[in-house]
Amino acid sequence: MKAKILIVDDDPDIATMLEDRLQASDYGTIVARDGVQALEMVEQEAPHLMLLDLDMPRLTGLDVLKRLPKVRPAEDLPVIVMTAHGSIQAAVDAMKDGAYDFLTKPLDKDHLLFVIGKALERDSLKRQVACLKSEVDSRYASIVGASPKIRTVLEAAQRAAKSDASVLLLGASGTGKELLARSIHQWSPRHAMPLVVINCVALTETLLENELFGHERGAFTGADRLQKGKLEMADGGTVFLDEIGDMPLPLQAKLLRVLQDREFHRVGGTRLVSVNIRVIAATNKDLKQAVKVGDFREDLFFRLNVISLTLPPLRDRPDDLPALAKFFLNRHAKEAKRPGMMFTPAAMDALDRYSWPGNIRELDNVIARAVILSPTDAIEPNALALDFGSAAGRGDAPPYLTLPYHESMEAHSRHIIEQALLDAEGNQTKAAERLRLQRTYLARLLKQQRQKQEERAGEDGEGVETAVKA
Ligand SMILES: Nc1ncnc2c1ncn2[C@@H]1O[C@H](COP(=O)(O)OP(=O)(O)OP(=O)(O)O)[C@@H](O)[C@H]1O
Ligand SMILES: [Mg+2]
Repeated sequence: MKAKILIVDDDPDIATMLEDRLQASDYGTIVARDGVQALEMVEQEAPHLMLLDLDMPRLTGLDVLKRLPKVRPAEDLPVIVMTAHGSIQAAVDAMKDGAYDFLTKPLDKDHLLFVIGKALERDSLKRQVACLKSEVDSRYASIVGASPKIRTVLEAAQRAAKSDASVLLLGASGTGKELLARSIHQWSPRHAMPLVVINCVALTETLLENELFGHERGAFTGADRLQKGKLEMADGGTVFLDEIGDMPLPLQAKLLRVLQDREFHRVGGTRLVSVNIRVIAATNKDLKQAVKVGDFREDLFFRLNVISLTLPPLRDRPDDLPALAKFFLNRHAKEAKRPGMMFTPAAMDALDRYSWPGNIRELDNVIARAVILSPTDAIEPNALALDFGSAAGRGDAPPYLTLPYHESMEAHSRHIIEQALLDAEGNQTKAAERLRLQRTYLARLLKQQRQKQEERAGEDGEGVETAVKA
């Protein structure tokens, strides 16, 4: 789509010259002869950018800038002001009033196009960021669950969100700690400011220190400019310290100091930097035990543990399972463009009986896989591929090792194809590349497997369910 540029200048020669130049560079143009008309056009024509002469009779350019927010949010429309050579002060004033950049007359053609290009690019990036943000927010918007156990946690979390108190989220892997941390930020008065996630397990101590505090120029070889750390980026917002139980001890001491004083030095720096942050931390470790054995500082534990919320494992909230399963089925079926998918009663039964050691994340993954692999819209238990064997404590040997040779080979082949398809998010061409197979050959294998599965399901309709119940 052509960007539409609104030219505002009382001098018709300049306006025509600008129109010619911009149209030659493939921009669409509209022209306003004065400030009043400019504001009308902003409202009616929704231009993408405004080139605004500052020196006009009646409404000056500065007046237009000041009135612009009433017509359209200033951050929504980049404005480049044009001023006579020598009146830089007017340009500076305009920038203070929200102009994106300025040009001096007589206009240099290349510079004109450069500044416009830059402003439009920034505007489009801003839109993309806003779009992505709303996508991420909506992804994290819904916490499914109505069981009393999760309700109690959510109500406490909503109350905690209103305060600035530190929150410690506990619970096994995959129980929804990160989702809850994001929700607390969303429910808090800080929601318009950033939520910055710091994963304390992913990095070595030095890197983590750099990530938290940033560094000054020259702090170490290769530090050729000042870089802000994540604590500083979160200023005004929330810091989510994920996997806090894995933070190295020396860093725990430094973090404690920040939490006490809300001040720190960047790596290699002498100046104190102060920040206004709210802290949420999460771990699946037993922090009290870690304190006992000396792996976690007791004073830091008390700092973080002002409000502590524990997310229950999925098997302790069976009432929520149907709603969660439906939620993930809807999400994945929509992504895979397979609307109308559903669970057969036998599949629902299997979901219900399984013990979910990986909690909600595991449920999410199991359903994602079933949506990709299920040959029909009705998901059967075998498409869920739940491993009741190991969950029942029958050791870790792959189930196909106990089968006769041909069935074992077939099961193994099915397993590697499923894995490749999952890695390729269901894309057969990519999965075939991974497996170094012709795509048509992979398609044939898949068809054969489906036929065999259907034959087997036909032979022993009850068999599948019995196996699941076993
Ligand atoms: N109540 C819920 N409703 C909907 N989705 C949920 C819910 N709880 C968790 N999820 C989803 O389950 C997945 C795992 O959740 P999350 O990453 O928050 O868990 P976690 O406790 O941080 O796990 P880990 O300890 O492994 O990091 C995510 O995709 C999340 O969106
Ligand atoms: Mg997590």
